[in-house]
Amino acid sequence: MLKVLVCVSGGGTNLQAIIDGIEQGKIRNTKIVRVISNNPGAYALTRAKEHGIEGISISPKEYENRDAFHKAFLNAVEDASPDLIVLAGFLVVIPAEVIRKYRNRIINIHPSLIPSFCGTGYYGLKVHEAALERGVKITGATVHYVDEGTDTGPIILQKAVEVKKGDTPKILQQRVMEEAEWIILPQAINMIACGELQEEGLC
Ligand code: GAR
Repeated sequence: MLKVLVCVSGGGTNLQAIIDGIEQGKIRNTKIVRVISNNPGAYALTRAKEHGIEGISISPKEYENRDAFHKAFLNAVEDASPDLIVLAGFLVVIPAEVIRKYRNRIINIHPSLIPSFCGTGYYGLKVHEAALERGVKITGATVHYVDEGTDTGPIILQKAVEVKKGDTPKILQQRVMEEAEWIILPQAINMIACGELQEEGLC
């Protein structure tokens, strides 16, 4: 059984896609052991609760400095002893110690086709604003391993999505979620749970 810890910051639609994937048997052999949010008001925490999953909030604002926050975050991770950490819309930089200790065991969903529109400053709606501004006709989403850089780790899955005339950042964000994110994130977790990435030498 793959024990998964999911980190969230907001609405948690990707968390919901993972929960649904497990409940519908599309993600096999997997259990969400804990959800951590940096934002106590995140709707993602309500989603966790509704499905009987433990959700906790660890907000940097509650700690006197970054080090204290990092320590609390690491403790909350280790206490759950996960096999895999999934960043599902987690908008806080992961402490270096967590990346070191969980190398090749942290994955992230990013709402563009990396290496486009990624790196520092590209998150959430900003990614779609930048894609529309550049005038790309195709965008999409990427699931990748997390390393010390921002969106630089090995790519696991990508899915392309069409940009349509009249798209606003919000409309495009919704289409990228529906047609790409909610599909490839559960798929990547299932691949890891089934040992498929070991065969590819990706983990
Ligand atoms: C998602 O679009 C995810 O790809 C993005 O934040 C959103 C969270 O939505 N993540 C990033 O931009 C990370 N760089 P959700 O809370 O509804 O899953």
